[in-house]
Amino acid sequence: MRIVILGGDGYLGWPTAMHFASRGDEVLALDNYLRRRLARDTQSEPLLATPELPARCARFAALTGKHIEHRIVDCAEDGALTRVFAEFRPDAAVHFAEQPSAPYSMRGHDEARLTLRNNIGTTFELIWAVKRAAPQCHIVKLGSMGEYGTPDIDIEEGWIEIAHKGRKDRFLYPRAGGSLYHTSKILDTDLLEFETRANGLYATDLMQGPVYGHCSDEAKGDETLFPHFHYDDLFGTVINRFAAQAASGVPLTVYGKGHQRRGYLDLRDTLQCLALVVAAPPPPGKLRVFNQFTEIFSVLELAERVREVGRQLGLDVPIRAIGNPRRERDEHYYRPAHDGLLKLGLKPRWLSDDRLASMIEFVQRHRDAVDRTRILPRVSWV
Ligand SMILES: NC(=O)c1ccc[n+]([C@@H]2O[C@H](COP(=O)([O-])OP(=O)(O)OC[C@H]3O[C@@H](n4cnc5c(N)ncnc54)[C@H](O)[C@@H]3O)[C@@H](O)[C@H]2O)c1
Repeated sequence: MRIVILGGDGYLGWPTAMHFASRGDEVLALDNYLRRRLARDTQSEPLLATPELPARCARFAALTGKHIEHRIVDCAEDGALTRVFAEFRPDAAVHFAEQPSAPYSMRGHDEARLTLRNNIGTTFELIWAVKRAAPQCHIVKLGSMGEYGTPDIDIEEGWIEIAHKGRKDRFLYPRAGGSLYHTSKILDTDLLEFETRANGLYATDLMQGPVYGHCSDEAKGDETLFPHFHYDDLFGTVINRFAAQAASGVPLTVYGKGHQRRGYLDLRDTLQCLALVVAAPPPPGKLRVFNQFTEIFSVLELAERVREVGRQLGLDVPIRAIGNPRRERDEHYYRPAHDGLLKLGLKPRWLSDDRLASMIEFVQRHRDAVDRTRILPRVSWV
């Protein structure tokens, strides 16, 4: 297949590019290095400086003989994607090219505006590139489980049937984002749903939970092919952050009571999900939605797992409760459905002590690079 990856330099985009290229697909990775720029601007650089796309693609080709094409392009720029699509004619487009940090989006006016404009802009330009240049292309967009919030009823996979005054109909599941970032994802889901319905597009929205892991199998242990690994308060997702804290002697910072429950998945399972979804496009005209996670944990349970694995590695890993910088419910009901990807064939990898140990050991090898001042929350929306 011909697969274009929007945001191909990112934490998920780069492993996805390697994954499809390893299978023999023709892959084009697009990125404008927005994430690298925002990390520099906020003193939130990743643990290791990852090579830019030309060097990464060359290293991957040398190691595997497989080719990943790349282009530095702003996917939100007027018409830029349409020109790329007219030339490349993709069968599938995997859309990661968004500003993905909730705390970054809550930092102030400029950060909120950038998040909103960029995330709606890339989705809008992608839809028009498909309509104008590749109408058969399957759009696979990364959404977020955070779009649903934590309602007091079961969360369905994207859609819900509502009976009202003796009649019933099917609607997008109600959303309630907990940050401006999540709200931008709600808006782009709405945009994609409208355009899919109005124009008979092929589209899947993946409501993903936080991802963990420092590498995928395709990197074959070569650290220059690992995705960027963030452990800071702005861009580090919680399990990656806890692994880095355990490795560098910083107490695990649990926000509030730590009872917030969310669905998580291994980076390698994200790749598995994407391969399954790309192989089985939905019928045209109706947005398909999957909830993409494998296991539910509370933040405190995660901290306890990391502390225990740290202990097995001979580390003393204290847990420290700190005030929650986010406006979110500490105690809440949480029962989201997630059958769709299992029915497509997903074989989940559960969070294992081995995976946690390998993440902690990875950070230990680069312990000197950890900047401890980036771990405590620098942004509060309370
Ligand atoms: N990582 C997670 O745990 C997670 C969880 C749920 C959802 N998601 C979603 O998955 C997607 C990817 O997340 P990630 O963690 O890989 O983030 P990331 O920041 O590492 O990757 C996004 C990439 O897109 C690029 N990009 C952003 N705007 C662009 C533009 N206008 N033009 C070209 N490139 C652009 C960035 O430079 C970056 O390389 C996001 O939509 C995010 O909301 C991620």
